[in-house]
Amino acid sequence: MSYDEHTSSSFTYISQMGVWWIVLVVAVLTHTASAAVREYHWEVEYKYWSPDCKEGAVMTVNGEFPGPTIKAFAGDTIVVNLTNKLTTEGLVIHWHGIRQFGSPWADGAAGVTQCAINPGETFTYNFTVEKPGTHFYHGHYGMQRSAGLYGSLIVDVAKGKSERLRYDGEFNLLLSDWWHEAIPSQELGLSSKPMRWIGEAQSILINGRGQFNCSLAAQFSNNTSLPMCTFKEGDQCAPQILHVEPNKTYRIRLSSTTALASLNLAVQGHKLVVVEADGNYITPFTTDDIDIYSGESYSVLLTTDQDPSQNYYISVGVRGRKPNTTQALTILNYVTAPASKLPSSPPPVTPRWDDFERSKNFSKKIFSAMGSPSPPKKYRKRLILLNTQNLIDGYTKWAINNVSLVTPATPYLGSVKYNLKLGFNRKSPPRSYRMDYDIMNPPPFPNTTTGNGIYVFPFNVTVDVIIQNANVLKGIVSEIHPWHLHGHDFWVLGYGDGKFKPGIDEKTYNLKNPPLRNTAILYPYGWTAIRFVTDNPGVWFFHCHIEPHLHMGMGVVFAEGLNRIGKVPDEALGCGLTKQFLMNRNRN
Ligand code: C2O
Ligand code: CU
Repeated sequence: MSYDEHTSSSFTYISQMGVWWIVLVVAVLTHTASAAVREYHWEVEYKYWSPDCKEGAVMTVNGEFPGPTIKAFAGDTIVVNLTNKLTTEGLVIHWHGIRQFGSPWADGAAGVTQCAINPGETFTYNFTVEKPGTHFYHGHYGMQRSAGLYGSLIVDVAKGKSERLRYDGEFNLLLSDWWHEAIPSQELGLSSKPMRWIGEAQSILINGRGQFNCSLAAQFSNNTSLPMCTFKEGDQCAPQILHVEPNKTYRIRLSSTTALASLNLAVQGHKLVVVEADGNYITPFTTDDIDIYSGESYSVLLTTDQDPSQNYYISVGVRGRKPNTTQALTILNYVTAPASKLPSSPPPVTPRWDDFERSKNFSKKIFSAMGSPSPPKKYRKRLILLNTQNLIDGYTKWAINNVSLVTPATPYLGSVKYNLKLGFNRKSPPRSYRMDYDIMNPPPFPNTTTGNGIYVFPFNVTVDVIIQNANVLKGIVSEIHPWHLHGHDFWVLGYGDGKFKPGIDEKTYNLKNPPLRNTAILYPYGWTAIRFVTDNPGVWFFHCHIEPHLHMGMGVVFAEGLNRIGKVPDEALGCGLTKQFLMNRNRN
């Protein structure tokens, strides 16, 4: 009897396998029929450039700033041959939002997934973009993102499939912030004793173009005391005007690669319908303005239903920190009006910078779209990560559970792949913090230490991470930190004020339709809970996307599926202990 049952069940198993083989073969055939390989040759070097009409040294890709936009279809393979033409610095590029399934070595995080590319050398990234979404890329070595090394990476639905959103045209706005102080000098200041803070940005850039010491709205004298901007044809700082036809719907893709600023964007007289966040469809909602933090991306739909004889301001202002940067402006031009005609009323006013309730309420409006995968109901592993500002011998640092991250000379991916014991400290950093820590006040014992330990997870388990905010070193202040995870989308289960209370606050989680994202905001004096499944063998950076904070140690590293990591090209690991290891291995 039991023998029969066994045979019949294994029979079903085999026939199911047969069906799967057919499905697989068909999938492979259709895949090869539509997916393309897009190959690029990029050279990175400094150029004189005037992002806000003031000339400075800017990191360019093939002489362009921002770098060229990659446009692809889901399923395509992207190949970037990246040549470092900087004379004295290493280089890597991270593909922010791309999960790198099967290609963890192509993630482009220096010290984590690869060695920095030396001056004069070329390194080839090769990865698949498996689903549609609005993404970007940026330098991920030192503060090279601040230096202007970034561009857009936009993935459309696979050829032959139809886009679920309806729109007549699209625009892409890559937002960033810009300083006149050169990046090596900024890094030096941050690493000095006492620390010299970089201050607020000189300008906000829209597609690499901004206004310093002038305004496109100077005619409204109560709005600003700045003079009117004057641009000549072809100026690098001249704003890009968005030309639209009346009574159409446009998709506006937004992403923020700011070094520091939290931004708010509004289009005068127009509603925005938010439909995508970090490359995932969300339940659409209508808003007058949108908060966007470093590391985030969105798509909004805008319908041109206003007076077609007028033009309208698009404004991008700073929130979350006391603003000392002029609002960036550009123009929505109805083609039925002359493009040079200035709007007839002042630009939208950016909401108050410290209205954090408003900011949190915005985050809480974001839910996954119907039909999106919902999270597993329970976690297997959990980390509670306390964010603090600390001192080490008088140097200012950021620490997570009292460890300030310094990535090792040997990239983690190489150390774990080849089991090089000395590559980094094998002891896990603390998985939680002392629950009697007072998050509302400056730390009583501000000293901390550096470390390079990582969190290693088993393959295919559900992990919860609770990031916990606290007070900074001096004064009664707690800052915003946008936390970004490489290699994954995660569900944002919830936000809360004060200290996370284990056993109680889990009850407030949204397990029904939490958004899938790759960046989550940690608000002042609060906590944020995220959940993900360790289904992507590799080593993945999880860090604050504020460039100076990361520079001062605000990150951790996750590793998963370590015995399932496939081939890593030797070229990714020509430094530290892996260099010698590969030389010995290849000699034998
Ligand atoms: Cu866009 Cu590790 O960051
Ligand atoms: Cu931060």
